[in-house]
Amino acid sequence: MVDATSPDLVIGVVGCGAMGQGIIQVALQGGMKVIAHDAMAGGADVGTRKVLGRLDRLVEKGKLDAADAAAMKEKLVVSGGIEDLAPCGVVVEAVFEDIDVKRDLFTAIEEVVAEDAIIASNTSSLPIGSIARVCKRPERIAGLHFFNPVPLMRLVEIIRGPATDAAVIEKLVTVGERFGRTPVVVKDSPGFLVNLGGRAFTTEGLHLAHEAVATPAQVDAVMRDCGHFRMGPFQLMDLTGIDVNYPVSMIVFEQFLNDPRLRTTPMHRALYDAGRFGRKTQQGHFTYDENGHVIDPPSPDHATDAAPATAVAVATDNDEALAELLERAGLNVRTDDGSMPIVAALYGEDATGFSARTGIDHTRLVAVDTTGDTSKRVTLMTAPAADLAHRNAVAAAFAKAGIAPTVIQDSPGFILQRMRAMIANLGCEMAQIALATPADIDTAMKLGLNYPKGPLEIAEEMGVTRTYAIISAIHEATGDPRYRPSLWLRRRALLGLGAHQTG
Ligand SMILES: NC(=O)c1ccc[n+]([C@@H]2O[C@H](COP(=O)([O-])OP(=O)(O)OC[C@H]3O[C@@H](n4cnc5c(N)ncnc54)[C@H](O)[C@@H]3O)[C@@H](O)[C@H]2O)c1
Repeated sequence: MVDATSPDLVIGVVGCGAMGQGIIQVALQGGMKVIAHDAMAGGADVGTRKVLGRLDRLVEKGKLDAADAAAMKEKLVVSGGIEDLAPCGVVVEAVFEDIDVKRDLFTAIEEVVAEDAIIASNTSSLPIGSIARVCKRPERIAGLHFFNPVPLMRLVEIIRGPATDAAVIEKLVTVGERFGRTPVVVKDSPGFLVNLGGRAFTTEGLHLAHEAVATPAQVDAVMRDCGHFRMGPFQLMDLTGIDVNYPVSMIVFEQFLNDPRLRTTPMHRALYDAGRFGRKTQQGHFTYDENGHVIDPPSPDHATDAAPATAVAVATDNDEALAELLERAGLNVRTDDGSMPIVAALYGEDATGFSARTGIDHTRLVAVDTTGDTSKRVTLMTAPAADLAHRNAVAAAFAKAGIAPTVIQDSPGFILQRMRAMIANLGCEMAQIALATPADIDTAMKLGLNYPKGPLEIAEEMGVTRTYAIISAIHEATGDPRYRPSLWLRRRALLGLGAHQTG
């Protein structure tokens, strides 16, 4: 079988578009010889010229040695026809996302390359098994799923098709590392890992807005300030383009046979139908100027003229996070005198449910999310028919202490708990269906989506038992199977085990 470590390994790249060019570049930077092929007349010339130009720019910026760049250029060959791929030990296909085009191409490549050559597809959404089924040797067919822009995205998913030989996967791991990427091995499953895992973040953000719990600007601000995500879900959708993320959401949802965990909302579809794709059309969840800046960004902060409260009663005793937060806000805890705000730190429960369960006066109840980072921002919510003077007074106290208050409608799990519990629960489900190892699930989500932590690490940070309690409480309050806890999470929570525990 092909020697993946050989200095003479030749990589074929078929399709010299956006992805093909990136793959050629990282293969050359990894010291491998590359044969580039494209079906469009002159397509490989145009694509490879762009790659050479990028190497030149890296030299100009001092990021690449001129002699190394010259050596890389020597190793790049433009194919005159598909038969020129004959010397390739590994061929990476990056042509149009069309099953018939890919099947024809794989059949043709098999005719040309050696018996032991590996042929891998960069497809984002087609099952590897559906390509491999037309191949003579399906055991050498796999996925090698790069992310855009390839040179900047360190992750590569190696997709194990139903017939892929274990040795082929091992060799692709080596090749992925030689490309300078971090490989994770993933089962052949809809959306593979990152495009599945990413559904929790965007669709739960959409559900919060759909239920009018919070505005897109509020969700984004809480996820950035309290959750340390680089971008909020609405910002991210507008950046990647709703013309891209709505169809991906639907493909993954439908391929999982309409699993409600992956369900998006009518608002997503409405933006897609209206051609409001985000930054590229200047209209999406937000409105943009021609430079991509949001026009009149809506404030996530609660504006109030109320005098800051100085004293509150506390309904959830022995909550250290709440005590610390109230102290920072200069709110003194007093015995309830029947006329003061009553604050409660809730986990997965909404203010209504808490008040009904405990008998605490819902008109004076101000629920506070103490999870995540509350140094800059805190989320508050009240039950219907609350006396908003109490909420405003508590919000004003936080604002005075430099902690921006985000005030939302009653929601089981506020914003951050809901979002993080969904991300963690879906991560647990990915571990449950053995999509990849727990460690690889975390690695892939961090490298592929810039998450501050992987989904199982998020479960650890929140506490496995608490994560389970939050998602279970949301499930109970809503009755929506979207929030059913993953059995992976349930078992580890019930047994007091870590989220990464296998077996
Ligand atoms: N663009 C992304 O963000 C992204 C990310 C990950 C994976 N992918 C996947 O990578 C693949 C390529 O995507 P892209 O964005 O680079 O597309 P692209 O349209 O930029 O490039 C495709 C190239 O393939 C060539 N081509 C088409 N049919 C061919 C054939 N039969 N033989 C040889 N060349 C052929 C075209 O001439 C074109 O140059 C798709 O499967 C896509 O799903 C894309």
